[in-house]
Amino acid sequence: MSDEIIYPYENGHPDVRTGDDSLFSTVDPAPPVEIFALHKAYHDDKTLQKVDLTIGAYRDEEGRPWVLPVVREVEEEITSGNNLSHEYLGQLGLEELSSAATKLLLGSDSIALKQNRAFGVQTVGGTGALRVGADFLVKCAKLKIFYMADPCWPSHHLVFPYAGFAVCRIYRYWHSMKKCLDIEGLLEDLRDAPPGSVVILHVCAHNPTGIDPSKDQWIRIADVMQEKHLFPFFDCAYQGIASGDLEKDAWPVRYFVSRGFELLCAQSFSKNMGLYSERVGNLTLVFKDSKVIPNVRSHITMMIRGNYCNPPRHGAGIATRILNDNRLIDDWKKQLKTISIRIKRMRWALRTKLQELGTPGNWDHITRQIGMFCYSGLSEQQVKYLIQEYHIYLPTAARINICGLNDKNVEYVARAINDAVITFPSERT
Ligand SMILES: Cc1ncc(COP(=O)(O)O)c(C=O)c1O
Repeated sequence: MSDEIIYPYENGHPDVRTGDDSLFSTVDPAPPVEIFALHKAYHDDKTLQKVDLTIGAYRDEEGRPWVLPVVREVEEEITSGNNLSHEYLGQLGLEELSSAATKLLLGSDSIALKQNRAFGVQTVGGTGALRVGADFLVKCAKLKIFYMADPCWPSHHLVFPYAGFAVCRIYRYWHSMKKCLDIEGLLEDLRDAPPGSVVILHVCAHNPTGIDPSKDQWIRIADVMQEKHLFPFFDCAYQGIASGDLEKDAWPVRYFVSRGFELLCAQSFSKNMGLYSERVGNLTLVFKDSKVIPNVRSHITMMIRGNYCNPPRHGAGIATRILNDNRLIDDWKKQLKTISIRIKRMRWALRTKLQELGTPGNWDHITRQIGMFCYSGLSEQQVKYLIQEYHIYLPTAARINICGLNDKNVEYVARAINDAVITFPSERT
C-alpha cells in the first residue's frame, strides 16, 4: 500500500556548464510554501471582512497574537538589569533547558531518566529537533527508510529526505469517508515496513487531522512496532495544547518508554509557550543502555557544529526560566488551559452554527478532533470559493486553524462554508 515519494528537488541538481551559462541555469523552480504564501495573501488583502485560518499560531478572542503573561514576565526579568546576555551557547545549547524539557516530556519519575538512559539537546525549534534527529539516524545509525502519516505536517516531506533518507514512505492515517483514524490501514502499513524503518508519530494534536489514536490504539501501534523492530521518532509540537494538561498529552511517549523502546522525540515550545520566532526546541533521545550516550552526544555535537554551530539563546532563556520554577510552571499551566478551552469553545461554536444552518453533511468531526487544527473535509473547489468570495484563507488541504475563529467571525465563517458546500456539493463533506 505505501507509495514511495519522489521529491521534485531530486531532479534539480545543475549540470556542470561551460561558457556564459550560469552554473545554476538548470535548477528547476521549487513549489512555494503554500501556508506562508496564503498567510501573506491574507495580510495583503485590503478587504475589511477577512479571516485568517492559515498558520498554526494561537490568536486571542480579538484575533490578535498572544504573548503569554508568564513569557512577558520572564522576558522583562531577562532584559532588565544585568541579566541580558548575547554570548554564544555551546553546540548542545542550555543544559538547564534540555534537562527540564526532557523531564517535562518523559515525566519526573521516568525509568529512563532514573537509569540515565535519556538526554536532551536544545535545538532550533521543533523542526530543528526533527532535522538533528534525522541527520543522526541517517549518518550515524545508517537507517535508510522512513514512514510518515498520510496526511502529515508538510515539513515532514522535506526534513527527512533532505537529511538523506533514501526511501520515504507513507502510512495510512486518515479515513476520509469516516473522518477518523484509519487504524487498520495504519497497522497494515506498519506490518509491511522493513525492520529498522523510522516511523514518525505525532504525540498529540496530530497536524493536520486533529485526530489522535486512543490509548488502546497506541498499544496496538506499539505492539506492531515492537514485533517488527520499527524505530519511533515522535514529534511533540503541541504538549499542553491538546488536552490542556501537559502530563496527559505526553502519555504516548511515556508509554513507549515504559515498553522499553529506544526512541527520539522532537519537542517544540513554539506553540505551547507562544515563542514561535524564537526557535526553542529540544531533541530527547532515549536508549536501552546509558553506555551509548557519550558517543552519541559527541556525534550530535559535531553535526550541529557543522550545521548551525549553536542554537539561539534568548527564547531558550525564557523557556529555561519557566520550566525550572514551580510558580512560573503553575502560571504557564493556567495559560495553557486558557488556550485549550478557547480552542474547544470555538470548535463547538463552528459545529453548532453549521448544524443550525442545516449545512449538508456531517460536522461532528469538528468537535471529535483535538488541538489547533480541524481537518474539515472541504474540497479544493470549496476552499478556493471561500478564499475568492469570502476572503477566508485556508490551505487546499482544507485544514482550518481553529484559533483564527472568534465570537465575532465564527458565524461569518459558518455561513460561508454553508454557501460553499451548497454551491459545490462534494463527497468529502
Ligand atoms: C507537527 C509539527 N511538528 C513540528 C512543528 C514545528 O515547530 P517549530 O515551529 O518549533 O519548528 C510544527 C509546527 O507547525 C508541527 O505542526
